[in-house]
Amino acid sequence: MQSSELREKYLKFFERKGHKIIPSASLIPENDPTTLFTSAGMQPMIPYLLGEKHPAGVRITDSQKCFRTQDIEEVGDSRHTTFFEMLGNWSLGDYFKKEQIAWMFEFLTKEAKLNPENIYVTVFRGKEAVGIPIDEEAAQIWIEQFDKVGINAKVVDFSEKNGMQGGRIFYYDETKNWWSRAGITENMPVGEPGGPDSEMFWDFGVDLEIHENSEFKDSPCHVNCDCGRFLEIGNNVFMEYIKTEKGFEKLKNKNIDFGGGLERIATAKLNIPDIFLIDIFEAIKSKIENLSGKIYGQDSKETKAFRIIMDHLRAATFLIADGAFPSNKDQGYFTRRLVRRAIRFAYNLGINKEFCSDIAKEYILVYANSYPYLKEKEKQIIAELIKEEEKFNLTMQNGLKEFEKLQNISGKDAFNLYQSYGFPIEITKELAKEKGIEVDVEEFEKELGKHQDLSRTASAGMFKGGLADHSEQTTKLHTAAHLMLAGLRKVLGDTIFQKGSNITAERLRFDFTYPEKMTSAQINDVEIFVNGIIEKDMPVVCEEMPIEKAKELNAMGVFESKYGQIVKVYTVGNDHEIASREICGGPHVEHTGVLGKFKIQKEESSSSGVRRIKAVLE
Ligand code: ALA
Repeated sequence: MQSSELREKYLKFFERKGHKIIPSASLIPENDPTTLFTSAGMQPMIPYLLGEKHPAGVRITDSQKCFRTQDIEEVGDSRHTTFFEMLGNWSLGDYFKKEQIAWMFEFLTKEAKLNPENIYVTVFRGKEAVGIPIDEEAAQIWIEQFDKVGINAKVVDFSEKNGMQGGRIFYYDETKNWWSRAGITENMPVGEPGGPDSEMFWDFGVDLEIHENSEFKDSPCHVNCDCGRFLEIGNNVFMEYIKTEKGFEKLKNKNIDFGGGLERIATAKLNIPDIFLIDIFEAIKSKIENLSGKIYGQDSKETKAFRIIMDHLRAATFLIADGAFPSNKDQGYFTRRLVRRAIRFAYNLGINKEFCSDIAKEYILVYANSYPYLKEKEKQIIAELIKEEEKFNLTMQNGLKEFEKLQNISGKDAFNLYQSYGFPIEITKELAKEKGIEVDVEEFEKELGKHQDLSRTASAGMFKGGLADHSEQTTKLHTAAHLMLAGLRKVLGDTIFQKGSNITAERLRFDFTYPEKMTSAQINDVEIFVNGIIEKDMPVVCEEMPIEKAKELNAMGVFESKYGQIVKVYTVGNDHEIASREICGGPHVEHTGVLGKFKIQKEESSSSGVRRIKAVLE
């Protein structure tokens, strides 16, 4: 079965169950400054899962393009890809567990025609500490489904030591069977929806000896084992909770959030444990074989290179189509990293001519019917890829030669490879790992920081967002902007995020996520909060720290680490109270007493779901 047919079958199946089919949203989120990419089908659905009315109704289905940066380094094995399509169906306060599990079983076994003997499932064991009970209901519904096809499904409480124990339905803990964008722990931000989930796995078969030949051979295999015998093909999230200050509370509505990888279900259908063998990659694989003279699947190192090229250039094609052109920052940095990594691995396969745009052309053909907009953007995609490849090729071979000369890699060396040869730090790290040597990443970050400060100074004032200059008055308003964000979150709640800011010596302008007009009482409360912190004359302290530490400290900011791990964190506070903590480049005043009197002059709409405040210091 072709992947496009599978996608169609899924959407039509849920359409027959009363769902409205909606198109995929962009890979670049429109109104969510907390994240760079759409990485799950539910992401564009967040406002509706939280209770806002969806214009298409309460039953929705789609196939959402997703990109997961955290999987870049994983690509090369039999099942990870950075880009994928997530088949999704949602109930917004409508049907729940019973329907979802029964329909999913029906879809997999009757529509996709997967053999139920090879399907295994997991459910949530519960977690007393946070008051979420064991999901016996889901287990019972699964028993009934398997029973219908003559399978007596045994329920087992999973343990590392005992493995499968002849089970078909397994209880796992929250590391496997709880879904929200931020886990179940204290770190989960207030306002995030979540819930227990139930995942489905495909068994490629015991006779393949996959487990025995893998690095996991010393412990018993189980459905969540990473040996490759089992492949997760879908996740039913029973989204009925929301994290609040007090812990977990029930959402107003019980929602279903289902997500299943199209490519993974297609791989299960093929019943060979290699996602890169499905139809989508066929023409591209042949192309790489022609270019390199190598055959896919003959040598494990070469196979890894094939997979990296296939995955990365597919992702880059879609990313460019959605506007992420290769660059040094934000989303574009990832496109650049993908293209350059693909080129480096192509070099390992002996491909010495430009090839990226040819691969993209193949993908545009493969997706001609499902994503015709790729064809419309073909010229741009090709032009961007050619430009990036030329840029990198010009220096890559010299850079590799330079690299070979190094015995160990100081931060300065890594920065030189970055600056003079265009090696993203991740490529340098990867090359170093292959050679068994260390890279001083911390020193690299420092070198990069120096360089960025220099170029920032050069272009200060040209920035649309951020600070117009570093004058005393602008600096004061910058600190006031931090206090205001803290105040907005106090008054309006933790769902407030900064969307952008523009600060001059005269005033600050600040955009943030919030669906309604603020009342004058709310505006007043924010002013009182900010002026209160000014009166307390709190110190403003800047510290450099790894991004993980900043995260632990609940600093506000964008956590997709771009170049790196070390960030500057500005904290306003004293021993009794932390008023504000943000990842930020500065500059700021040293203590709040110097700010004067804070006043909000205007609160207005900026765009859909985004408000704009203009404020001054008097
Ligand atoms: N939101 C769920 C996931 O991404 C379906 O796994």
